[in-house]
Amino acid sequence: GHVHLADYRAPAWRIPQADLQFELDPVATVVAARLCLSPDPAQPGQPLELDGEGLELLDITLDGQELPPDRYDYDGHRLVVRGLSGDCELATRVRIHPADNTRLEGLYRSGDLLLTQCEAQGFRRITFMADRPDVMPRWRIVLRADRDAFPVLLANGNPLASQDLGDGRHEASWENPHPTPAYLFAIAAGPLERVSQRLRTAEGREVEINVWAEPGDVARCHYALGAVERALRWDEQRFGRCYDLDVFNVVAAQDFTMGAMENKGLNIFNARYILADEATATDADFLAIESVVAHEYLHNWSGNRVTLRDWFQLSLKEGLTVFRDTEFSSDLHSRALKRIEVVRLLRGRQFAEDAGALAHPVRPARYKEISNFYTLTIYEKGAEIVRVLHALVGEDAFRAGMDRYFADNDGKAATLEDFMAAHAAASGRDLSGFARWYAQAGTPEVAISADFDPATGDYTLTIEQHTPPTPGQPDKQPLVIPLRYVLFDGDGAAVTQLPESDAVVRDGLVELTGARHVLRWRGLHSAPLPAFNQGFGAPVKLRFDQGVDELARLARLERDSFNRWDLLQRLATEALLARPHAEAATGALSDALADLLSDADADPAFVAECLVLPDFDTLAEQVEEVDVQGIVARREELLDRLAEDQVERLQLRYEALAADAREGLSGKAMSARALRNACLAWLTRLDPDAALAQAQFDAGGTMTERIAALRCLVHFQAPGADAALARFRDAHAADPLVTDKWVALVATRPHPDALDDVQALVASPWWKPANPNRVRALVGSFARLNPLAFHRRDGAGYRLVTGQVAVLDAVNPQVAARLLGAFESWHRWAEPQRGQARAALEPLAGQLASPDSRDLLERLLA
Ligand code: ARG
Ligand code: ZN
Repeated sequence: GHVHLADYRAPAWRIPQADLQFELDPVATVVAARLCLSPDPAQPGQPLELDGEGLELLDITLDGQELPPDRYDYDGHRLVVRGLSGDCELATRVRIHPADNTRLEGLYRSGDLLLTQCEAQGFRRITFMADRPDVMPRWRIVLRADRDAFPVLLANGNPLASQDLGDGRHEASWENPHPTPAYLFAIAAGPLERVSQRLRTAEGREVEINVWAEPGDVARCHYALGAVERALRWDEQRFGRCYDLDVFNVVAAQDFTMGAMENKGLNIFNARYILADEATATDADFLAIESVVAHEYLHNWSGNRVTLRDWFQLSLKEGLTVFRDTEFSSDLHSRALKRIEVVRLLRGRQFAEDAGALAHPVRPARYKEISNFYTLTIYEKGAEIVRVLHALVGEDAFRAGMDRYFADNDGKAATLEDFMAAHAAASGRDLSGFARWYAQAGTPEVAISADFDPATGDYTLTIEQHTPPTPGQPDKQPLVIPLRYVLFDGDGAAVTQLPESDAVVRDGLVELTGARHVLRWRGLHSAPLPAFNQGFGAPVKLRFDQGVDELARLARLERDSFNRWDLLQRLATEALLARPHAEAATGALSDALADLLSDADADPAFVAECLVLPDFDTLAEQVEEVDVQGIVARREELLDRLAEDQVERLQLRYEALAADAREGLSGKAMSARALRNACLAWLTRLDPDAALAQAQFDAGGTMTERIAALRCLVHFQAPGADAALARFRDAHAADPLVTDKWVALVATRPHPDALDDVQALVASPWWKPANPNRVRALVGSFARLNPLAFHRRDGAGYRLVTGQVAVLDAVNPQVAARLLGAFESWHRWAEPQRGQARAALEPLAGQLASPDSRDLLERLLA
């Protein structure tokens, strides 16, 4: 059944203190737990209910006395203890089996390490606990293990003591003094090595930062260590938040279901978001590492010090922390490039989620399996809603609201209402209308129509908003939408006159609150040229039928990089969706790209972004019925045409940037590599021998350059592609993170036959279905990034994915469920794909055991 937001009840029992002792062993670990229990005075006489999933209960005592069997029941999921009255202490011992744990939730083995992943509900697989975020003990943790096999023993908080136990075993004790819910519990044990740095926080605390990895990997941890320090300093400066323990430990794990986890004082990461050097990681990998390291670090305040009342509030920590990590990256690097990255993700993936079978509000009203709600909507749309709030109140009031939120809720389990109340108090603004963003699913559509009366000079804009129905939410209300705008007059200057309107309008910002608003400017000399939703300040779909001439003029007038990029994307979309003026749009786009490629002052990385057309998902999202092959073909055609137009400029830039590209990890070098690789892709498409790509591949250089060259060879089916693939694979055979790149290239070759290569890999010794990174590299990238093969007309692509879902469901339910997300838009696929998708999905119903995949399948087929 469902869990409902409206059914929330405060816990009947509080747990102020939890003491755990682990006898660590991969085959059988024994966990002894002592929980101090205290009844909520408002709910006396309630039985104690603790979560415990599949635990082998060895003994149970209450206040030191063995508990008779008639006082408790354990059904494998829940422990109920009756007849408790006042404060008391419950002690249990349980046995668990880390080496058999392929779900990677709770305590599990990864290579020679023992690790935990508890969010959202993994702790209950370790020992009995009220496994809900509003129960927040202070913790003492003792780890005991064989010294040779597990020389390093880490847990949350500060190290207390360690000692040798004689018999080849040793122990380490840890104390986490901050009230912390069980989902933030963590331990890590094994032959770990570290890179380390000490610093003093702005409050004067001496902190040791350690990044740990298995011995062969530790040399690639330095960049992540630097990223921790940058994040720590940035949170001090931008949000006034300091670190609050004596150590900050980060561990890299080769087996990890998600990206990373913000456990208190002991972040555990998927190794792909820690390990990096120039020979094995691309520039994009470096930036992603910095951003994920910052994300987890920043959770220490937005998530840990202030945690969640219940899982419905998930976006309170995730949306807010994505907002914070995005600001971090924007402050450190290019704000425009970061915005482009985020907007591509929103338009390509989050909009599709919000329009598909799995659409849900940023705060869902109910769920069956919370693991299925770690979505782009909770994370990315959640972050955009924080950005909307920021736009409404402004930077100063926003910072004051954040200070107030942290101060009022420190050490507590908060709700989105607490967040909005703090911002309402600090800004003096009524946020009751704004709150609707959290409750309502679907992407709002904002339609604008313009009218100019040459006789009076009156210029009228009518703005209407509408949010389409989503599953379970047929009717939608208007939202509070801050739209940035500018009107350019005939000389290209901004019109400063404020319009008459029933909406609030101030310095280039109109706040939509109703379904329809009219804006009227009086006595203009000529029809102005309007630009709306600048900076993509509101996560909406804008419907404003501006002609190609207008878009092209705007692209020339616009000084802001993001807005220029956005205008070129609009021109490309006109061309790609074969709208009436497609030919004119193509010409205008080509002219604009020619200007950009000739502009030595433009940031090369920005020019590279302008060469990347809207992707398949973004285009598919904008049509009623998705003709997969048609969209891909038109995109290829446009790319061919644009590449032909630009060939000389592409060659020039490719050569001219060669020297800059050799300057290591500097921003300048990364930027040069980005544009060189974009040029290389366009030049390779024109040259069947792919001589340039072959030369770049042979020259070696950075991973950024090698993998880009290899992608060109493989994707354009160059004569040297197979030899280059084999060379790359053999050179990196020992490093699974790099072979994943190779596999992803094979799986995304834009040809229906790529399916055969994927099937061959699934049958090869390389395939390790228990490792989430392997699954994502092969099946995940096939399903999400290879439209021609995944959407094969014969349905073989769909069957390959559903077949893997059925197998993986028994291994790692979260990984299996995530693959099903590739079908979220299947209702809109044109035939024969729609029928093929249904035929692949329907038989799955009888093959799935986990609630994760079953929940998604039900929603997909509803
Ligand atoms: N809180 C982690 C992060 O965003 C993600 C944990 C995901 N866990 C899960 N079971 N889906 O940084
Ligand atoms: Zn997070």
